[in-house]
Amino acid sequence: MSNIIVLGAQWGDEGKGKIVDLFSERFDVIVRYQGGHNAGHTVYVGPRKFVLKLIPAGILRPGKIAVIGNGLVVDPGALMAEIGSLRASGVEVEKQLAISDRAHVIFPYHPLVEKLSEAREGRIAIGTTARGIGPAYEDKVARRGLRIADLLDRGFFREAFKTIADDKQTVLEAFKLGDRIDAGAICSQYEELAEMIRPMVTDTAQLLNRLLREGKKVMFEGAQGTLLDVDHGTYPFVTSSNASAGGACTGAGVPPTCIDGILGVSKAYITRVGGGPFPTEIHGEQGDAIRAAGKEFGAVTGRPRRCGWFDVPILKYTAAINGFDSMVLTKLDVLDGLKEIPVCMKYKLRGEELDWLPARIRDVEALEPVYEVLPGWEGTTAGVTRYEDLPAGARAYVEFLEAATGVEVGCVATGPEREETIVRPGSKLARLIGK
Ligand code: IMP
Repeated sequence: MSNIIVLGAQWGDEGKGKIVDLFSERFDVIVRYQGGHNAGHTVYVGPRKFVLKLIPAGILRPGKIAVIGNGLVVDPGALMAEIGSLRASGVEVEKQLAISDRAHVIFPYHPLVEKLSEAREGRIAIGTTARGIGPAYEDKVARRGLRIADLLDRGFFREAFKTIADDKQTVLEAFKLGDRIDAGAICSQYEELAEMIRPMVTDTAQLLNRLLREGKKVMFEGAQGTLLDVDHGTYPFVTSSNASAGGACTGAGVPPTCIDGILGVSKAYITRVGGGPFPTEIHGEQGDAIRAAGKEFGAVTGRPRRCGWFDVPILKYTAAINGFDSMVLTKLDVLDGLKEIPVCMKYKLRGEELDWLPARIRDVEALEPVYEVLPGWEGTTAGVTRYEDLPAGARAYVEFLEAATGVEVGCVATGPEREETIVRPGSKLARLIGK
């Protein structure tokens, strides 16, 4: 068994929460390496539903260590709310959670500043989650951010915060946004929150490197998905961090040499929330029907997700960027009952054929998918737990995707419960998770 990265192959919401939760049984440590409470991982354990935003899904397994890495931006209020609801369900959060002292802090002015780009005429609205994620990363890169370590350093924090808050107020006034930042009140509120999280804060890079040396098995959990990666995604319709596999090392403080395998998670169809191009988007009734069948509404914002057909060029692109060893195909059951299932094999762009995502956003918007239409299947995949028990047509669909993308499908999910999952014996994935 090995150290692995599990991440989304498209624009997030691929069903990673369930997969990370399921596989975490076989790992000692589960690490989030980027993003913030813009992510939403829904996990069902028996009759209970958990929506995790910042804390890795591994927290739901007693005894596992869950790490919030340095690559995240943390809103301490949102974190405490999540901790509170986990505690109420009996999870021993203090014993299991480690929060990086180098993670950056989201302050109430970050969502206010976000309105500069999201809510003003003439700006390209990204359709963000409005959680202040982008502005917090802006401050980090501009070297004016405050980290958890700074928040815990009382005297330093008050002074540094006052200067930054003044600057933000000036910006808000210049852009006539009309919001006021009450620096004193925010300072007091954050000092209080700091004391609540203090017992869980540590140098997580040091912790992880020690655990790796001791032979502990670590799973790195990406949020958002590769096409929302700030470098490799459909820029500017992306989030502000490196969601792709490369981000795991910088966002956790571990060397690339410790990673043994990378698993890409994709739905059997694909989805996207927010703005931006989506070549295989299904409009009209059929899109609505898949949204309803797949319950495709954002776990964080409740926004309806846009639905589309499986896109082979996207998968090839994200497999190359990340180095997928294997793919997890989730929500196969949502396609039960369809007569035909189109799969995008390549694109046409102004008469030319393409099988890779171009950089120019207008080119991505102009891509025309070229589909191969597969037959649907009789019978149901819902809840099936052995590959050979899937309807023949469903197996043919899975194997078609494998052949078209060149990436093994090592695992298929057939429902929201932990048990509704097939790990294919003999697959690379089975080896990587030690099954
Ligand atoms: P931000 O991360 O809030 O800045 O939003 C940037 C883009 O990423 C928007 O299109 C969001 O809808 C999208 N996004 C952020 N987090 C998630 C997620 O967890 N799942 C799906 N989309 C997300």
